[in-house]
Amino acid sequence: MTMWKNMTVVMASVVVMGWLSWVVMGNPVLHKVGGSKGWINNHDVNYTEWSAQEHVYVGDWLLFTFDKRYFNVLEVNKTSYENCIDRDFISNVTRGGRDVVQMTEAKTYYYLSGGGYCFHGMKVAVHVQQHPAMAPAPSMPVSASLLPSLTSSCVSILLVNVVYYVNFLFMDGSCLLSFS
Ligand SMILES: *[C@@H]1O[C@H](CO)[C@@H](O)[C@H](O)[C@H]1NC(C)=O
Ligand SMILES: *[C@@H]1O[C@H](CO)[C@@H](O)[C@H](O)[C@H]1NC(C)=O
Ligand SMILES: *[C@@H]1O[C@H](CO)[C@@H](O)[C@H](O)[C@H]1NC(C)=O
Repeated sequence: MTMWKNMTVVMASVVVMGWLSWVVMGNPVLHKVGGSKGWINNHDVNYTEWSAQEHVYVGDWLLFTFDKRYFNVLEVNKTSYENCIDRDFISNVTRGGRDVVQMTEAKTYYYLSGGGYCFHGMKVAVHVQQHPAMAPAPSMPVSASLLPSLTSSCVSILLVNVVYYVNFLFMDGSCLLSFS
């Protein structure tokens, strides 16, 4: 019985925490930089225009696909981005040519390719926003703003209820308070 109790508590915690982070953070989205063409030295791709029509939120990922024989991906600051300076970059995202980086803060991230390609337009400024569910929404009741997430995560709710019910069957009730 103790084992059941421990197991159900752990299961319930995992499900509830997963569900909460899902509701709060939303689903992380992978954004392929430049769309279908990826990260290339080609005036066909205007990365400013690409960035302007993307909605990137904290927790999302960027995917850079490129030919690593020529190009790379370096995170730089605004000044270096504007002037295409590839020295003293902030971080080097380059690995195998299909490289991802997660957006962890609500700010503008700047990336460029070294080797002179930045001057041909291989640079991008990505504006990362706080997820709407996390930002304060004074004009909208919390329940209303959470509603879409709640309805679409009803599978999680179902699981929580199953675990709750199992708890109810097997436990002395002390744990029920924490879920109510
Ligand atoms: C990209 O598009 C923006 C907005 O349309 C424009 O201002 C900019 O000059 C373009 N950049 C290049 C390199 O063509
Ligand atoms: C941006 O980075 C360059 C290169 O490391 C550095 O010289 C410059 O001071 C930085 N600018 C700011 C505003 O941090
Ligand atoms: C970035 O990292 C890659 C892979 O580790 C490496 O090959 C490359 O030389 C680095 N680029 C710079 C500019 O440091």
